[in-house]
Amino acid sequence: MTDAVQTQNDQSKFTPRVFSGIKPSGGLTLGNYLGAIKRFVDMQSAEFQSIYCVVDLHAITVWQNPTDLRQATYEVAAGYIASGIDPEKSILFNQSQVSQHAELGWLFNCVARVGWMNRMTQFKDKAGSNAEKVSLGLYAYPSLMAADILLYHATHVPVGEDQKQHVELTRDIAQKFNHDYKVDFFPETQPVIEGPATRVMNLRDGTKKMSKSGESDMERINMTDDADLIAKKFKKAKTDPEALPDTLDGLKDRPEARNLVDIYAALNDMTPEAVITEYAGAGWGRFKPALADLAVAKLAPISTEMGRLMTETAELDRILARGAERAREIAEPILKEAYDIVGFVR
Ligand code: TYM
Repeated sequence: MTDAVQTQNDQSKFTPRVFSGIKPSGGLTLGNYLGAIKRFVDMQSAEFQSIYCVVDLHAITVWQNPTDLRQATYEVAAGYIASGIDPEKSILFNQSQVSQHAELGWLFNCVARVGWMNRMTQFKDKAGSNAEKVSLGLYAYPSLMAADILLYHATHVPVGEDQKQHVELTRDIAQKFNHDYKVDFFPETQPVIEGPATRVMNLRDGTKKMSKSGESDMERINMTDDADLIAKKFKKAKTDPEALPDTLDGLKDRPEARNLVDIYAALNDMTPEAVITEYAGAGWGRFKPALADLAVAKLAPISTEMGRLMTETAELDRILARGAERAREIAEPILKEAYDIVGFVR
């Protein structure tokens, strides 16, 4: 993608380690859950050390009311735990408690090229015609994201499709650092973008991504929605008049239908093909209530548990502080070595 120079890198020397993060900017959506958190839970295994972060430094690249930011940070932390992230098995913390993220981020601001940043499609989408007025942080954001990942020498980063370009940039930054300083220090991180729900779409327009910032609340499922609201939103989701086909190919030009099939598959841990086999020929009068029931069965317990956890902020504070301590134990020596490589006196 970029003009970074390839360096030879011995990947086997890096501990298999997962890192990923979610911004506390507004509430969690079903897109965050299926595209990210549910997959984080799956990767919480003996095979990997897993590190999951509430990336509050990223959130403030656009304006956040301080009270709302605090609340959203607790909500994301509660969402992680209620979905099955175990703070004993995984390291769970909020980014601003580990100052090494910002420090390595600065180093990477000096490694990444302006031309690389100019190619970031998410910046272009977010800044739109307003690019002169957005914060410098929003522009530099992908370089901080590279720091989040490489600060732990993370080898695998599970994300939704929209973050792919940022993880590729992370690889470019690692390669350029390794090349410029003639070291084999940062790994070539793999993006892990798998499963049927890497891009969950808006329930009112199947060509747009489901996001926390969409205009209408009916276009997304929030992880704090209760059972009635979840069912109502799926029953009112936009569809077309046709029944479900008997092969996936038949959904090619039917984005709303395809999205609901993918959501069903992801919620029920099955493939979209298997959903089509089960519901071939079914009309929406049958499929939508089945999807609504499934979603309520899977999501309502999470939203109830999130609600409970969010009333226990002292406990969340304790979990995040302990996670930050464990994160620093990994991050600090890596940052120190990076400083030595660069030539800082300490
Ligand atoms: P954020 O906070 O926008 O989203 C968090 C995660 O949720 C995924 N996601 C989706 N997946 C499927 N369908 C959707 N509609 C959908 N919406 C969101 C995102 O792909 C992401 O995996 N830059 C990141 C946060 C970040 C990060 C990192 C991630 C900061 N540092 C280091 C990984 C590693 C972001 O803004 O995600």
